[in-house]
Amino acid sequence: MSDAARFAGRVAIVTGGASGLGLATARRLHGEGARVAILDLPAARPSDAAARIARTALGLEADVTDAHQVGVAVERATSMLGPVDALVTSAGVSRVGNVLDTTPDEFARVLAVNLTGTFVVVQAVAQRMVARRRGRIVLLGSISGTRIWNDRAAYAASKGGVVALAKSCAVDLAPHGIAVNSVSPGPIATPQTAALHGPTIRGAVEAAVPMARYGTPDEVAAAVVWLLSDDARFVTGHDLVVDGGLTAAAIRYDRGRADGERGSS
Ligand SMILES: NC(=O)c1ccc[n+]([C@@H]2O[C@H](COP(=O)([O-])OP(=O)(O)OC[C@H]3O[C@@H](n4cnc5c(N)ncnc54)[C@H](O)[C@@H]3O)[C@@H](O)[C@H]2O)c1
Repeated sequence: MSDAARFAGRVAIVTGGASGLGLATARRLHGEGARVAILDLPAARPSDAAARIARTALGLEADVTDAHQVGVAVERATSMLGPVDALVTSAGVSRVGNVLDTTPDEFARVLAVNLTGTFVVVQAVAQRMVARRRGRIVLLGSISGTRIWNDRAAYAASKGGVVALAKSCAVDLAPHGIAVNSVSPGPIATPQTAALHGPTIRGAVEAAVPMARYGTPDEVAAAVVWLLSDDARFVTGHDLVVDGGLTAAAIRYDRGRADGERGSS
């Protein structure tokens, strides 16, 4: 079967689909035959993003922290496009903040969007998938949930939670024919990182990543879409890291500069 046909006749919802990794995933799903709905905040203009992908793509305005708005949006996607086969949760926010200076309100806000918002969307869609005994779901985690950057207290906590939530969903939903996995990207060039990474962070990232660069949104989308496809039918509860080798690396040194030093050969 060609990739172009992998999602023919399938319906997918992508939260946070108006930007970055969500937009790249929605685009790729459409390219492989899916009917796609993009769910995002009104300010992100999901209908405009959908129209840029295809005339048939649907934009849904909802805040993932509001269960009522999410329920209405999922119902609309189902009535306009058909029952949902695939869900990707990419809606998320990042905040720079240290354990000592993050306020409880800031902490709660990041958790509300990234973790509770993900739960709310998964529950709304999974409750409808159960009736058909089929569905595939991918949650966007982050390597920040397990490998810690300084000054990312709330974000790290939220993403560690998302990866654990994906595993809980995988176990609870497997008897209903629904598979749930997470994708944990390393640093990827998106509007989120463009806004938060200045030259100092950029230099640190490029020095730490063995592939010495940021990933592209499409490189993450390819992994997400594989997990949504029938090619991954027996894969559930897995966290797929897409990070250019960042989490695999420990100590790395410049071999050229080390030559001739005591102990090197
Ligand atoms: N870019 C990276 O390097 C990177 C790395 C690891 C994980 N991630 C995760 O991947 C996901 C996408 O990141 P991105 O870089 O594409 O970010 P982005 O800022 O480009 O896109 C995020 C989207 O989420 C939407 N959103 C935010 N709050 C929302 C809410 N309450 N309700 C509905 N939509 C909301 C935004 O409007 C935006 O369109 C996030 O969960 C992020 O944490 C990103």
